[in-house]
Amino acid sequence: MRLAAVVLAAGKGTRMKSGLPKVLHRVCGRAMVEHVLSAVKKAGVHKTILVVGHEAGLVTERVGGGVEYAYQREQLGTAHALMQARCALERFDGDILVVCGDTPLIRPETLAGLVDAHRRGGNAATVLTAVLPDPAGYGRIIRNAGGGLVKIVEQKDATPGELAVREINTGVYCFRAEGLFDALAALGRDNAQGEYYLTDIIEYYAQRNKPVGAATIDDFSEVMGINDRCQLAAVEKIMRRRILDKLMQSGVTVMDPESTFIDDSVQIGPDTVIYPFTIIEGKSKIGEKCIIGPSSRLADSTLGNRVSVSNSVVVESAVGDDCNIGPFAYLRPGCVLDRRVKVGDFVEVKNSRLGDGCKVPHLSYIGDAEVGAGANIGAGTITCNYDGEKKHVTRIGEYAFIGSNTNLVAPVEVGARAVTGAGSTITRDVPPGSLGVARGKQKNIAGWAERKKRRPADNKVE
Ligand code: UD1
Ligand code: CA
Repeated sequence: MRLAAVVLAAGKGTRMKSGLPKVLHRVCGRAMVEHVLSAVKKAGVHKTILVVGHEAGLVTERVGGGVEYAYQREQLGTAHALMQARCALERFDGDILVVCGDTPLIRPETLAGLVDAHRRGGNAATVLTAVLPDPAGYGRIIRNAGGGLVKIVEQKDATPGELAVREINTGVYCFRAEGLFDALAALGRDNAQGEYYLTDIIEYYAQRNKPVGAATIDDFSEVMGINDRCQLAAVEKIMRRRILDKLMQSGVTVMDPESTFIDDSVQIGPDTVIYPFTIIEGKSKIGEKCIIGPSSRLADSTLGNRVSVSNSVVVESAVGDDCNIGPFAYLRPGCVLDRRVKVGDFVEVKNSRLGDGCKVPHLSYIGDAEVGAGANIGAGTITCNYDGEKKHVTRIGEYAFIGSNTNLVAPVEVGARAVTGAGSTITRDVPPGSLGVARGKQKNIAGWAERKKRRPADNKVE
């Protein structure tokens, strides 16, 4: 039997009060609709149709290929949204899974279980339900005395008796394709919101003695829909914990899950320890036995094994094995650090390559530079890479020794094993093995302080 999926994502998400369509709001680094699509894909569907409408261009741009799109010009309700997939499913013969784009916690196993229950029951429609401690906001599942499904009532249309029902519609359904679109076409919009409700199909089928069923899940957190930013934060928290649990189970120590934020897409090797107040985002990949944090942010970066990053920010950079970053370092995009590199306190590095064992221990700016293996960059060294119009490259050879407080005015090259004198402003290349000094000569004036009658007490403290 074939299986298709329709994901409803055309709504504006009015309750989000946002310029961004609701389904593009991010949960642990990915748009909520992307989480839903990946669960759908893993549930074994053969074809997915994404219904877009409000800011459709933004949604299709984000989601890209791999799905078919249907367009809902006006957001007239969930039944109307599903109706837009009719063309795409014209000749489809099988079952259709329908999922809302705003329930990113849904798991593939749950979707597959629903399809299973649907098929075993020989149903025309099966709805996934959950029993919530607080059902406010959701559609309620109304059953008859025998427990059979009668209908789904939206919160805004419910009687006080119906509001007391704690079994809710998760917004996930499985339908037999045959007859589905004709039934949708027959539904009206005579309700509190004046919308075509997909939920009405249950009553429509039940009244016509078509078999309808419900599958109930235990873990209701999985089907939490996001309608506003409070729910966004609640879902984010659950998903974050899921990600951390998976990492911990694979051998990563997370010292304080409450203050650790790691995206879904991040990979981390065993025996790495994550200290509190750390954020790891995007396509970051971290090796084994690293120590990350406290108070660090890594974004789209790759770290080798045994790397330590403390109180630092690393963005779009690659850091090799045994490197030591921070405290208080900033690696900006385009840095490549080979092995055993030290980037210490108050150092900023941008778009530069630092060779094996090279050291930038304190208070430096290294931008657009190529630094050879074993070079030592003294405290306060600055690459003057920008002339106000263009960026220029600084080259520092292997085992070069850059004296403290050197300004390297790029383009400039300091050769292998060359040395610069502390406080020099280097504007011309320093050949390999040479010393480059460029600073005013010191002059000592004998007896000057005596003549001024300076005493220690003259060093006033203001
Ligand atoms: C819906 C269900 C409710 C259920 C809840 C579960 C209906 C009428 N109600 O309510 O029973 O408990 O989900 O979370 O179905 N959408 C469109 N086009 C539209 C309207 C909505 O594509 O015209 C999409 C939205 O983008 C969203 C999804 O459908 O992803 C659900 O819409 P939403 O307005 O959030 O429905 P709820 O009020 O939450
Ligand atoms: Ca919703």
